[in-house]
Amino acid sequence: MLELNKVYNMDCLEGLKQLESNSVDLILTDPPYNIGKDFENDNLPKKEYIDWCKKWIRECVRVLKVGGSFYLTLGWQCVAEIKTIFNKEEFMRLKNWIIWYRQDGWKGDKGFAQSHEHILYYIKDNTPPFNLEEFGKHVTEKRLEAGYKTVDGLMEAMGLYTLVHRASGKDGYFSGAGFVESGKKKPTLQEMVRLNELLKLDKKYNIDIKTVDKNKYNVLFNKVDVCDDVWLTPKSEKKRLGHPTQKPEALFRRIIRASSDEGDIVLDPFVGSGTTAFACKSLNRNSISFEIDSNFVKIVNKRLSQEVLLPLDTKRDGGTAFLPTLKGLGIQPTIL
Ligand SMILES: C[S@@+](CC[C@H](N)C(=O)[O-])C[C@H]1O[C@@H](n2cnc3c(N)ncnc32)[C@H](O)[C@@H]1O
Repeated sequence: MLELNKVYNMDCLEGLKQLESNSVDLILTDPPYNIGKDFENDNLPKKEYIDWCKKWIRECVRVLKVGGSFYLTLGWQCVAEIKTIFNKEEFMRLKNWIIWYRQDGWKGDKGFAQSHEHILYYIKDNTPPFNLEEFGKHVTEKRLEAGYKTVDGLMEAMGLYTLVHRASGKDGYFSGAGFVESGKKKPTLQEMVRLNELLKLDKKYNIDIKTVDKNKYNVLFNKVDVCDDVWLTPKSEKKRLGHPTQKPEALFRRIIRASSDEGDIVLDPFVGSGTTAFACKSLNRNSISFEIDSNFVKIVNKRLSQEVLLPLDTKRDGGTAFLPTLKGLGIQPTIL
């Protein structure tokens, strides 16, 4: 069993095998982009690189809790191929495709300056396709059989929803675009698991996911820090620690705050100089980190031994004040 808040100097494929299924709340990682940087797995023949990505992505999906989030930063070079790997992961749903506008573009081959990276934001809450209308009717039948007279009664028992005060003056549970019984809403994976537990649904609706954290909502998201999906950072991280692709701490703090709670477990299988682990420490999250290069592990351990634990501060954390969107800055996109 791996200990929390330690950096393991190992190949993440070995490390991931030691983690239990459905045990991690958030995965935030910045894998090798296969662009020839001076570290492992960044200079592979394309097919070999993609086959390798399939392996660690599969393991990450396995260890992520239902309802948990998975963020990957990627370069434009392989983002499309990596997206197709996820298309085959039936439980993963793409929530946002974020553009991180780094502003420090380099004009390669006299082309346009390459100043953005991609962040794919997935949540593990997707269900295999089936006929929604049929499913809605089945849930209504099973609900009545199980003795829940109202939809609200069942929703309360499921424990996944927020009680809201409606304009009509009646309180009710909020479930996004209606409850599944409407026959129009695709249930989340977590809803499916709870419905199976409570209503003994027909075999064809069984979902093989054993552990679900009932205290979590279906999608972890901190609505305090809502912004759009193009993020602008000040030019790259100023406090360089000796890693060629160190990410800005503010960028990772934004993600961690948006998709985890204090005390949660955050995994980074490619921790590099430890940006994820350090941000976790300062935000009271637990981290699990793997890094194959012992020189980088030394950097991480030194970084984590620092006592500079910053209090939560939206200005530095990538609240809209620190990582303003293009609109927030008054920058207009180029009009052609
Ligand atoms: C893009 S860098 C991560 C940089 C990090 N986000 C930071 O801010 O410093 C990717 C890291 O993955 C490591 N790596 C490559 N293959 C690995 C593997 N199989 N297991 C664990 N780490 C690996 C590399 O040594 C490199 O440090």
